[in-house]
Amino acid sequence: MATATPVLVDCDTGVDDAIALLYLLAHPEVDVVGITSVFGNNTARTCALNTLRVLELAGREDIPVAVGSENPLVGEVTYLATHVHGGDGLGDTGIPPADESALSPLSATALISQLAQQFEGQLRILAVGPLTNIARAMDADPAIVSRVRDIVFMGGAADVAGNQSAAAEANIIHDPEAARAVLSAGWKATMVPLDVTMTEILTDDDRAALVAANTPVSTFVAAITDLYFDGYGADSFGHRCSPCHDALAAAILTGEVVPEVMPLLHVEVDCTDGPGRGATIADTRGRWKGFPDQSGGNCRVALKTDGSFPAKLLARLGA
Ligand code: BDR
Ligand code: CA
Repeated sequence: MATATPVLVDCDTGVDDAIALLYLLAHPEVDVVGITSVFGNNTARTCALNTLRVLELAGREDIPVAVGSENPLVGEVTYLATHVHGGDGLGDTGIPPADESALSPLSATALISQLAQQFEGQLRILAVGPLTNIARAMDADPAIVSRVRDIVFMGGAADVAGNQSAAAEANIIHDPEAARAVLSAGWKATMVPLDVTMTEILTDDDRAALVAANTPVSTFVAAITDLYFDGYGADSFGHRCSPCHDALAAAILTGEVVPEVMPLLHVEVDCTDGPGRGATIADTRGRWKGFPDQSGGNCRVALKTDGSFPAKLLARLGA
């Protein structure tokens, strides 16, 4: 692991978060050095316990898991995505709960700050839940922005509809104020929105390949995606399948997926209380010129990938 890149994952584990973690843990050029949980797909505590289950499966109980924010910066949680990820956050397959005593005694913000110092200039952050922990960590320790190499986050909808509302994607609408704080803080940031994650699709044939591979990891992923496939079939695609949200962001971080279009753009978050709340307003007017980087842009935005990620993901998961 000497040359592997240190990565901190901030997540709301969650079916697709679990897959993203397993993808990263299987990647030889990545060293997952810490994981922080946030409310979203479930409570931050349940998401942390789900993370412990994933680490047990991967034999990586050495990685610290810290419980993070249970509420957004402003107001209270409005919903948890149990309708998508199951009541337990992992597809309701009856996996036994993890042992709480394995959780880190640190808060999520303290762990982020500690790792940013320990791996100054090298640490990369993959954020695949609401951005609350990252915003709180910046508030507690503003130096993390210059200490961390970059942040890649799954969230937003640049030029497509939202998924939690007509305008907003789930991770952003859970905490628009946090997303706005992160986007205006000067991070080297990459946004992986629904524009691309909804185009990288796992099919029932892919699930069958996971079942056939019959490894602990492939069997786990096949099990936790069953309910998830039903949900996306009913709500979005009309047939059983699932988009690769969080794992695609992980693969863009590692460089295994290189988006065909990923310009530097100016992105603002709608923090009003109207129907646009949580929308990511990305300035995509450069499309007619082939998307040159935009002066004053605050974020690189993945706008097009080639659809080949599911095959790469299956290979990393042993199928
Ligand atoms: C995002 O919302 C969550 O439900 C998923 O884990 C993903 O991070 C997709 O909108
Ligand atoms: Ca997530």
